[in-house]
Amino acid sequence: MSDEILSLIYDFSRKYKDPKTNLLFEPANKNIFAFIKEGNVNISLQINNDQYHLYKEISKSLKEEITKIKGILSVNIAITSEITANQHNKKFKIDAQNIIAIASGKGGVGKSTFSVNLAIALNLIGFKVGILDADIYGPSIPKMIGLNKKPIMNNNKKLVPIENYGLKCMSIGFILDPESPTIWRGPMVMKALEQMFNGVEWGNLDYLIIDLPPGTGDAQLSLAQNSKISGSIIISTPQEVALTDARKGISMFEKVNVKILGIVENMSYFICENCKEKHFIFSKDGAKNHAEKFNIPFLGQIPINKKLREQSDIGIPICIEDPKGEISQIYLKIAKNLNMNLNK
Ligand SMILES: Nc1ncnc2c1ncn2[C@@H]1O[C@H](COP(=O)(O)OP(=O)(O)OP(=O)(O)O)[C@@H](O)[C@H]1O
Ligand SMILES: [Mg+2]
Repeated sequence: MSDEILSLIYDFSRKYKDPKTNLLFEPANKNIFAFIKEGNVNISLQINNDQYHLYKEISKSLKEEITKIKGILSVNIAITSEITANQHNKKFKIDAQNIIAIASGKGGVGKSTFSVNLAIALNLIGFKVGILDADIYGPSIPKMIGLNKKPIMNNNKKLVPIENYGLKCMSIGFILDPESPTIWRGPMVMKALEQMFNGVEWGNLDYLIIDLPPGTGDAQLSLAQNSKISGSIIISTPQEVALTDARKGISMFEKVNVKILGIVENMSYFICENCKEKHFIFSKDGAKNHAEKFNIPFLGQIPINKKLREQSDIGIPICIEDPKGEISQIYLKIAKNLNMNLNK
């Protein structure tokens, strides 16, 4: 029965040409793989990232046609790029098109706030986004996105991410005892992070955003070595002390072959409510100039803004509360540019 359905599926799929090779999508084509279990069809298409829209259309029509076959309960078509296809040589596995690590040299410069709002901005553009709070010292993502429950384990013994504002969220804080001192040695950090990947039912994601602890430590190295990170974004405030530390973070990533996708300057300026002028509290354009000097893409400047902090504290991020506002537009612009650069 399954074999008959499978051949019907290939009858439909061979009507389409593989944009990657110009061959038909038939069983001999290694870029399509279909299997069926108890009426549930799973198809994976290996794609070229830069022709994503073509595959999207093929996948949509194919799904519509296959759904009509008698005896089929569900159809899942996974579009996977080389990035995810290459994951077999990495220990931490996830079905995500892009994995982006948010890092900084110094603590308290705004990584978590940025991670949350970038994740929301990507979701607002239309992507499936997960956010992984990997801050072993001070997990703060659940609070920032207004989560107050703990994840449950499903029948596969995997943790189910908690969802809010369209994001799937998992925090290392959920599996750490908040009372125990976080003197984590390398192997323990690695184990906990591995659980955040392999032990979580993430499903298929377009983007996984990872909020890292500050500095260069076990968590950063462990992720760089064991997961297929697309690249990292460095958050820095504009003053010299923050930039010196940011530089250390950048060299670490470069050494372990993680691409630097760019620098974001946070707390760039403050606009006074009375005089309406920009005040450059932590100096002007520090991170921007730094990026130019070291030939690193510069992704944008985010001002110091009272509402941004307040919204974080109450668990309703600014990109949710006021998506059309000036600050949210900065995040949206960064998200769009990032997505464009990753798919070039
Ligand atoms: N642009 C901004 N304007 C105003 N407040 C901000 C801004 N960015 C971050 N904050 C606030 O600064 C504080 C620190 O930010 P956040 O927790 O995001 O930093 P972090 O780099 O993740 O810190 P840690 O290193 O402790 O993890 C938070 O209270 C946050 O709301
Ligand atoms: Mg943080």
